[in-house]
Amino acid sequence: MILLDGKSVSKKRNLELKDKIKDAINLYKRAPKLAIILVGNNPASLSYVKGKKKACELVGIINEMHHLDENVSELDLKALIVNLNQDDTVDGILLQLPIPKHLDEDLLIDLISKDKDADGFHVVNQGYLYQKKKTIYPATPKGIMTLLDTYDINVKGMNAVIIGRSNIVGFPVARLLMDQGATITVCHSKTKDVGFHTRNADIVVVAAGRPHMLTKDMVREGAVVIDVGVNRVDGKLIGDADFEDLREICSYITPVPGGVGPMTIHSLLENTFELYMNHVKK
Ligand code: GUN
Repeated sequence: MILLDGKSVSKKRNLELKDKIKDAINLYKRAPKLAIILVGNNPASLSYVKGKKKACELVGIINEMHHLDENVSELDLKALIVNLNQDDTVDGILLQLPIPKHLDEDLLIDLISKDKDADGFHVVNQGYLYQKKKTIYPATPKGIMTLLDTYDINVKGMNAVIIGRSNIVGFPVARLLMDQGATITVCHSKTKDVGFHTRNADIVVVAAGRPHMLTKDMVREGAVVIDVGVNRVDGKLIGDADFEDLREICSYITPVPGGVGPMTIHSLLENTFELYMNHVKK
């Protein structure tokens, strides 16, 4: 078994990105800027946002935090997004999800200018992705594809099973794997027998949010396992894949933590830099 070490891959790539950003700052006389909007105090979101902020600082991206009260009105949040859209010093905007139920997530995501959409969640950018056109890709799927590429894992002709159908991970990663020549199956909460599908998979991407749901009996020998799950159980972070169980039989596997998570953050930095380059060249 070979560990897909997202932590070290992202560290190396972040340093390369830092150099690119330094050169760009010399040329364009300003640093890239990412505005991060966090609503409320969801502990997981607080921790993710802290990680994103730290990563920005490491590579030279200015981060502007907007930490709003849990009860902020939709009107106020809309006004903030419109302001950030108009602010010429801001290159990327990120609205940390989930947001409280009284706020319309789809409406707010689509209010972010598609040219500042650091997450690649805007309906237009997702439309470009589904039409196989160049655009900003959602960070987790992009990070997974970079990790596979770094380890020379060519998915052409593979059977890929994705567990989870979200707009953030499952659906876009299915699209990207298909673009690379994989045959895809998307399983979800209504799938009758997930194991029936995963047992025939050459690569399994699990993004179900269910601790250790993917076990040895569900995966065939030599398969690649990509674990997107981040579950806090008894104060410990564990994935959707039962790592100890699976490590004996799979060819490659991502650990949790240290696998997909750092690659997601790296991709967010790459997206912000790409938006900045589009912005300064306009
Ligand atoms: N919540 C969980 N994952 C993500 C992500 O990639 N971006 C944002 N904005 N929120 C998230």
